[in-house]
Amino acid sequence: MLFDTHVHLNAEQFNDDLQEVIDRAVAEGVTNMVVVGFDELTIKKAIELAEEYDFIHASVGWHPVDAIDMTPEHLDWLKELANHPKVVALGEMGLDYYWDKSPKEIQKEVFRKQIRLAREVKLPIIIHNRDATADIVEILKEENAGEVGGIMHCYSGSVETALECIDMNFYISLGGPVTFKNAKKPKEVAESIPLDRLLVETDCPYLTPHPYRGKRNEPAYVKLVAEEIAGLKGLSFEEIAEATTQNAKKLFGIK
Ligand code: NI
Repeated sequence: MLFDTHVHLNAEQFNDDLQEVIDRAVAEGVTNMVVVGFDELTIKKAIELAEEYDFIHASVGWHPVDAIDMTPEHLDWLKELANHPKVVALGEMGLDYYWDKSPKEIQKEVFRKQIRLAREVKLPIIIHNRDATADIVEILKEENAGEVGGIMHCYSGSVETALECIDMNFYISLGGPVTFKNAKKPKEVAESIPLDRLLVETDCPYLTPHPYRGKRNEPAYVKLVAEEIAGLKGLSFEEIAEATTQNAKKLFGIK
């Protein structure tokens, strides 16, 4: 069993062969996935997929890159969707200082509003962080995000910050980069953090693991992530698969 905690099967890259992609994931032992929506179109598609497939759940949120586009109506819509039986988290949300479409102050405000909503509806949150670690940690603390907890998605920071996030009731999710030969930090994080706080993901169609780097990513490849972590931790693949699946089910409240 494998739980891919972050997929974008709602992305246009899967328009032509979605069913084949899902079949390959199932064949590789993927028993659960969370499809993440982050704007109007991808949220609608995430809900559709979650309604169509038993083993797919959805997370809905507003991406920091597009923070400037989020209206009060969008926030109300997220609140409504939080009641949907297949919606298990809010996000991805956070801060992205790599792209400059949305000013930092607007990103922060939209991030804070979504954390407050998550505490109101009692759902965990999925955090997107690009070049913004210090501000993310500060806002998570100030907004008491630990009350709901959640996931540091495709975590790429230091061991020290990972442990700080774990202390705030967050899980650390590792993706394709942990398989890259030059990825020192993700490998250190995989080795160092406790197994009961670890998750695996693909973030497909992005961040494809070795040896498929450069090609489109898909959920079947989450197995490569789990295998790499097993090697780093000196545990069996089965132990990593079982632990990360149980961790995800506990966090998302999936039976
Ligand atoms: Ni993502």
